[in-house]
Amino acid sequence: MTAPEALTDPESLRERALAALTTARERTALLTSCVEDPDLTAQHSPLMSPLVWDLAHIGNQEELWLLRAVAGRDAIRPEIDGLYDAFEHPRAERPSLPLLPPAEARKYAAEVRGRALDVLEGTAFRGSRLTEAGFAFGMIAQHEQQHDETMLITHQLRKGPAALTAPAPEAPPPFTGPSEVLVPGGPFTMGTSAEPWSLDNERPAHQRLVPAFWIDTTPVTNGAYTAFVEDGGYEDERWWTPAGWDHIRSHSIEAPLYWRREGGQWLRRRFGVTEPVPADEPVLHVCWYEADAYARWAGRRLPTEEEWEKAARHDPVSGRSTRYPWGDADPGPEHANLGQRHLRPAPAGSYPAGASLLGVRQLIGDVWEWTASDFLPYPGFTAFPYKEYSQVFFGPDHKVLRGGSFAVDQVACRGTFRNWDYPIRRQIFSGFRTARDGAA
Ligand code: AVJ
Ligand code: FE
Repeated sequence: MTAPEALTDPESLRERALAALTTARERTALLTSCVEDPDLTAQHSPLMSPLVWDLAHIGNQEELWLLRAVAGRDAIRPEIDGLYDAFEHPRAERPSLPLLPPAEARKYAAEVRGRALDVLEGTAFRGSRLTEAGFAFGMIAQHEQQHDETMLITHQLRKGPAALTAPAPEAPPPFTGPSEVLVPGGPFTMGTSAEPWSLDNERPAHQRLVPAFWIDTTPVTNGAYTAFVEDGGYEDERWWTPAGWDHIRSHSIEAPLYWRREGGQWLRRRFGVTEPVPADEPVLHVCWYEADAYARWAGRRLPTEEEWEKAARHDPVSGRSTRYPWGDADPGPEHANLGQRHLRPAPAGSYPAGASLLGVRQLIGDVWEWTASDFLPYPGFTAFPYKEYSQVFFGPDHKVLRGGSFAVDQVACRGTFRNWDYPIRRQIFSGFRTARDGAA
């Protein structure tokens, strides 16, 4: 990968870090001020933390890494560390902890931020792995944005009238291209050793030999998914893995989360509003088992994680891997639906300027895409800066999702970025696309 100057020059990186931290905090402020205090401390779902936990946890992680680890400062409130350690208390328990009330949580996060900006100004972007290229600052901006997506998931689970609104994405020009794209067989570079703020699980860059395969040009739409539902897909054991079949039967799952059938029509609830399911949007809120079953019903399969990344990053002319599907340029609003600008995916075929060099659309943004793969370390992986970010999640329990949703900010999204979750998860902003083997 060529590293554009903005990714190597310390002063550009410092500006980038300041902008990323500022953008994240604006989003956090909106997500925690658009409802009243009782909605911040309430448990909207046992699957999620109260919003006020995310708020103080954001501040606490920033304090741990930027004030204590980078700058060597003493703890501001050492007694709260345990409350905001994600491994000490499961989400379902967090509402009953003696959490900082909303006003105090806000004050704490703001105090940490004030000091962190001084540290940002006064820290050389070299000398240790944590400060090299401003990594810790980039990591903390990504962490806050990841929790901003988590908080948006909580907002979507919350019952009651809408607290958040956003304009729909612009309708795309009619898409007339082929429904699938052939990715040629051969080696490609997976992962990165150059991207300055890439997280430990994206590293290091390494070669993979990936045989030819076909991949859907766009994510699977609600219209296509409805055909599976209407064909009795949820009543036909043939399409499901044994674990998937067991899960949907025991939980009476018959359609994507938030869908409801009324008078022969499918409706969905989206951020406090009930509306007809739009046929042309990528399907959202399906678990891995549903994605896998749909693919089998369609005579196809989910792409592996390496296939997904090759479709997203392989430049067939130069043979190298790019930062994003469209090349090395940072994402702009013309490339992808990111950053909670729209609180929904854009119709399939949107963002022609964001197509991959091979012609695959909407790989970045819109919906997280389930892959066939378990979350595993790359050859040469080392945990950094802490084992609890990635390493403790490696193994067969978690499936990899790629590409990022409309709820992800660009700082936490790139061609190499890896997300993971349990195969039963549906409250996340998840969809998928399908693939099949290429001709031998
Ligand atoms: C990478 C999205 C799975 O939310 O559990 C946030 C990100 N890690 N705080 C998660 C994360 C620590 C993580 N995911
Ligand atoms: Fe966290």
